[in-house]
Amino acid sequence: MRILGTKVVPALSGNMTLKDATNEAMRHWINHPTDTHYIIGSVVGPHPYPDMVARFQSVISAEIKKQLQQEIGNPYPDYVLACIGGGSNAAGAFYNFLSDEHVNLVGVEAAGLGIDSGESAATTALGKPGVLHGSKTLLMQTADGQVVEPYSISAGLDYPGIGPLHAHLFETGRVQFLSATDDEAMNAGIELSRLEGIIPAIESAHAIAALSKLDLDPDDVVVINLSGRGDKDLETYIRWGKY
Ligand SMILES: Cc1ncc(COP(=O)(O)O)c(C=O)c1O
Repeated sequence: MRILGTKVVPALSGNMTLKDATNEAMRHWINHPTDTHYIIGSVVGPHPYPDMVARFQSVISAEIKKQLQQEIGNPYPDYVLACIGGGSNAAGAFYNFLSDEHVNLVGVEAAGLGIDSGESAATTALGKPGVLHGSKTLLMQTADGQVVEPYSISAGLDYPGIGPLHAHLFETGRVQFLSATDDEAMNAGIELSRLEGIIPAIESAHAIAALSKLDLDPDDVVVINLSGRGDKDLETYIRWGKY
C-alpha cells in the first residue's frame, strides 16, 4: 500500500484486528467528513458504502461471464464460489448472477478452529441480527449484544459480521453458505500451490477448501474467485506447515 502512495496508520485499539481497523477508519471518517471519501474495502459499513463497494466489485462477475462465453460458449457456470469476510469479493463474483437462479452461488466463511470451538468467524452459522459499523446485519454477539471476538488464521476473514447484502442472500437462500476451518483452508492452499504454482491468499484458500463439500458432477463448470496474493501470507504458510 505504501508503494502505491498510501499513508498507512496501524489500528492499535482493541485486539488490533480487522474489526478494530474498521472502527478506527470510521472514527477518522466521522472526524474528517469534508475530505474523507472512501473508508472501507469491503461491503460493510453504513449505506451507501456496501452498495458502492458491491457495484465496484461487480466487474468480477461481468468478467467471469465474458470469459466463460469465450471459453465454453455459455456465460453461465454451474457454481460460483467465493470466500466471505465482509463479503466484497463474493459480492463482486455473485453480483451479475443474482438473477440467474440456475447458477449456484456459494459463500465460504472461516470456521477457524471449528464452528463450535469458540474460535471462529462463521457469521451465518453463529450470528444473530444486530448492528455493526452502521449496518443491520448478522453479527456474532453475546446474549447482551456485545460483539464476540472472531478468530480465523486469515486476517481478512477475521470479522464478526457480514455485509448486509450477504445477510439478505443468506436469509432468502439465494446463496448457500459453507465454512472451512483453518486446517482445511491451509491444506487447500498448499494443494493449489503444488498443483498450479499459484499460492492463494489464505482468504481465497477457504473457498477452494469448500470444493470437496459440494456434490459436484464431473461436467459441472465451477468458478472459484481466487486471489493469488498468497505472498502476503507466506509467513503464516511457513509457520503452519513448518517448511
Ligand atoms: C485476498 C483477500 N481476499 C478476501 C478478503 C476478504 O474480504 P471480503 O470478504 O470483503 O472479500 C480479504 C480481506 O482482507 C483479502 O485480503
